[in-house]
Amino acid sequence: MSLPKIDPTSTKSWSDLSRHFDSIKNQKMQDWFVSDPKRAEKMAVSWNEFYLDYSKNRVSEETLNLLLNLADEVGLKDAIEAQFTGKEINETEGRAVLHTALRDFRNMKPEVNASLQKIRSFSNRLISGEWKGATGKSITDVVNVGIGGSDLGPDMVCEALKFYKNHLNVHFISNVDGDHVMETIKDLDRETTLFVVVSKTFTTQETLTNAQTIRRWFLEERDETDIARHFVAVSTNLEDVAAFGIASENIFPMWNWVGGRFSLWSAVGLSIACAVGYENFEKLLRGAHEMDLHFRESAVSENIPVILAMLSIWYNNFFGAESECIVPYSQYLNKLVAYLQQGIMESNGKSTDRNGNAVNYQTGTIVWGSTGTNAQHAFFQLIHQGTKLIPTDFICFSEALHKQTDHQNKLMANCFAQTEALLQGTYGSEAENSYKVFEGNKPTNTLLIEKLSPENLGSLIAMYEHKLFVQGVVWNIFSYDQWGVELGKKLAKNTLGAIESGSPDMANNSSTRSLIKKTI
Ligand code: F6P
Repeated sequence: MSLPKIDPTSTKSWSDLSRHFDSIKNQKMQDWFVSDPKRAEKMAVSWNEFYLDYSKNRVSEETLNLLLNLADEVGLKDAIEAQFTGKEINETEGRAVLHTALRDFRNMKPEVNASLQKIRSFSNRLISGEWKGATGKSITDVVNVGIGGSDLGPDMVCEALKFYKNHLNVHFISNVDGDHVMETIKDLDRETTLFVVVSKTFTTQETLTNAQTIRRWFLEERDETDIARHFVAVSTNLEDVAAFGIASENIFPMWNWVGGRFSLWSAVGLSIACAVGYENFEKLLRGAHEMDLHFRESAVSENIPVILAMLSIWYNNFFGAESECIVPYSQYLNKLVAYLQQGIMESNGKSTDRNGNAVNYQTGTIVWGSTGTNAQHAFFQLIHQGTKLIPTDFICFSEALHKQTDHQNKLMANCFAQTEALLQGTYGSEAENSYKVFEGNKPTNTLLIEKLSPENLGSLIAMYEHKLFVQGVVWNIFSYDQWGVELGKKLAKNTLGAIESGSPDMANNSSTRSLIKKTI
C-alpha cells in the first residue's frame, strides 16, 4: 500500500476543528494558565535528552484531541508504516523514501553498511594524514562542491558540530556565481586540498560548472593523473562521474530511495565525517535513529514530531498563519533554518493533492528565522507587536559547550523571557500608552535539549523531517518530489542559450528579452 489519499477537509475531525476554532479563536492563553496551574506540566513531553514544552499554544485539551483525531482519520499510522517499510510513497517518481534506513543500525541494508565502512576508512585516512595528495603531502582542506541537499545538510552540520571538529578545514561551494568558487579556492593549496563533488544526479548545472572550474584551476599546476588523489565524488550516476575523470574507487554511492534534502545521513555527509571524525558522524546517525523509533513507536499524544506537526496545521489551516519562525538559541545552529527551509518548503510547497486534484486549503508552511539572541534585536518586534500571527519554535540547550556560565545564564534567561513575553504581553497590567501595549497570546514551542551533542543534533534534524512528513500526510500531498524546481531549470537552459549566442529573441517573454539585452 502507498499513502492514504484522504482529503483532510472531508473528515469529521476537520469539521469538528472548524467548529471548535470558532469557539476558541478569541480566547487567551493567559487565562488558561491562570485557570489551570498544571497546564505547563500537562502540555510537555520528556524524551531522551529532549523536553518539549508546548503549553504556550492556543490549544485546549479538546483542541489537541481533535487534532490527533485528524491525524488518525487521515491514516497517519499506516502512512508512517508505509514509509518505514519502503513502500513507494514517492509515487510521482516511483520511489521508496528510506532515509531512515541510512541510520538503522539494527537492521542495516548491506549496501548502507558497505558505504559507511567506506566513509569510515576514507575519513580516518584523511584525518590521520595517511591519505596523501599527489605530491606526498597530507590533506589540510576539504571542499564540498554541491547544491541544495548536496550542500545545505553537510554545511549546516559541520557548522553545528564545530566544537567537535578536528584540524581539517572544510569549505562549501554551491552557488553557480563564479565569485563563490573563486573566492573559496583563491587561498587554497592544490597540493593539500581534496574536493568532494556531491551530486545525486550529477547533472546539476551549478555543481558541474563549479566542478569543471575547479578541475581547470587544479590542472593549471597539476596533471590529470593527480586528480585521483584530489577529487572524490558522491553520486548515483557512476557513468558521468567516471566521464568527469574521477577514479571508480573514489566514488561513494547514493541511492534513488534517498531524497536529496534527506541525504546528509548518506555519503553526502562525507565532509561531516571528515570534519568531526567518523565516530561523531555515526553518533549523529544513531541520534536520528532514536528519533525514528520514537516517531514510529510512540502514541501520538506523546509523539514529538506528530504534536509539532498538528500544532502547525492548527495555525496554518485554522488561524490562517502565514509563516512560522524557528529560533535556535545557539550560534552553532546559525545554518539550521536555511537547511530546514529546503526540507520543509521543497517538500510541502505543493498544491495538487494525492488524487491529482487542486487543493482548496493551505499547504506548505513558510519557515524562517535566525539565532537568538540576535533575532531579538532584529525581527522580534514584529512577532511581539505586528499584525501577523507567527508561531515560533524556540530551541535551546541546558549545557553550554564552552561552559561560560555567565553567558549561558543570560542566553537561557532571554530565551525563556521571550516566550513569556510573547505569551503574557502586558495583559492584566496597565500599559503607559497604546504603543506600549503587547497583546500577548502569541504561540511558541520551547524545545529544551540537554546539550548540542552529535546524537541530539541527529534527533533534532530527524524530528523536523518527521514533522514535515506528518504535515504532508495530513494535507494529502506528495512531500517527496519537487517538480516545481524543474521548470526553472529548463528555462535557465533556454535563457543561457540566448545569452551565450547573443540572441535575446530566443527568450519567450518580452521582459526576459529586455533583461537579456541589458546584459549582453
Ligand atoms: O533543484 C532541487 C534539487 O533537485 C534538490 O532537491 C537537490 O537537493 C538539489 O537539486 C541537488 O541535486 P543533485 O544532488 O542531484 O545535484
